[in-house]
Amino acid sequence: MSGATGARAYDVITFGDLAVDLIMTGGDIVPRFGQAEQLVGDYSVEMGGSCSIFACQAAKLGLRVGIVGRVGDDGFGRLIRRTMDECGVDTSQVVVDPTLKTGLGIALCHGDDRAILTYMGSINALRPDDATDEFLASARHLHYGSFFLHTGLLPVVPDTLRRARAFGLSVSLDTNWDPEERWNSTLLEALPLVDVFMPNEREAMTISRRGSVTEAVEWVRAQGVPIVAVKRGADGAQVFHEGGAHECSVTPAAGGDSVGAGDSFDAGFLAGWLRGMPLDACLEIGCHCGRSVASAVGGVEGQPRWADDGIRRIAERANQANAAEYSGSE
Ligand SMILES: Nc1ncnc2c1ncn2[C@@H]1O[C@H](COP(=O)(O)OP(=O)(O)OP(=O)(O)O)[C@@H](O)[C@H]1O
Ligand SMILES: [Mg+2]
Repeated sequence: MSGATGARAYDVITFGDLAVDLIMTGGDIVPRFGQAEQLVGDYSVEMGGSCSIFACQAAKLGLRVGIVGRVGDDGFGRLIRRTMDECGVDTSQVVVDPTLKTGLGIALCHGDDRAILTYMGSINALRPDDATDEFLASARHLHYGSFFLHTGLLPVVPDTLRRARAFGLSVSLDTNWDPEERWNSTLLEALPLVDVFMPNEREAMTISRRGSVTEAVEWVRAQGVPIVAVKRGADGAQVFHEGGAHECSVTPAAGGDSVGAGDSFDAGFLAGWLRGMPLDACLEIGCHCGRSVASAVGGVEGQPRWADDGIRRIAERANQANAAEYSGSE
């Protein structure tokens, strides 16, 4: 996609929380100590990390995507780079750091539930110096994900977003869950610098300390965020903005896991938004990507491309609605 500011190398940049997920499913999955050996049904090894999954989906949707991050000099690090390369993400700014071990999440899936053991390693390895002016000035848009996991960047998020805005970038934020459940940090200072905020409903209510999504969204918008997209799993998603709200429902996915659905939703929404599409169409594209990923195992397997039928149909409908509105106003 070539944007109005075509001189910039990227449409979207993001900071990578780079990790691998080892996902184990089926069989005798709940661990017992005391030297017990248990047999599980299946496993898969996938690239994990919210921002890298986001980056892959954004690239598959035709955006030029840059990511800054670190991996260890190990097999997991190579798997991450290879996956992002195959999806079309520019990984030239992913540094192989021999002093690090690549982050690892071991997910034990039990029905709809999951227990996750995480080794941070490369996940939170970025430091304030990695948010360079050069990187920020190279794009049209900054997507900031995994707000609380990037512990090395946490103190400088507001400054980073301020600098990005000064370079003319728009900014989106998906905090994801705070593993320490403190929810404060620099978030309050960061929110007024955000154009599009994309929490799930639990995150929205926890961050705002409000008892309903409606109240939570009112609170977020009062912090100065113009667009709030709230993700609701198999119940779809909603977007709220000055002109009102739109809702998108989905048919529940079957046969996959929900890993990466939220991050792929974010990329889908932004792929529409950065093309200037109306918010209801952006929401539909987000939901289509989220559902498609939730129907497959792992975060990147089910990610659609811009040319896929489902997205093409949404884009065509949006174009027709646009044309009808235009001719109606003449
Ligand atoms: N089980 C499902 N069936 C159908 N669609 C789904 C399902 N789970 C997620 N989606 C789609 O993906 C979108 C984002 O998923 P979700 O609400 O789980 O985000 P999230 O909580 O941020 O996820 P993540 O765990 O990736 O951070 C939803 O709005 C919905 O459109
Ligand atoms: Mg999420």
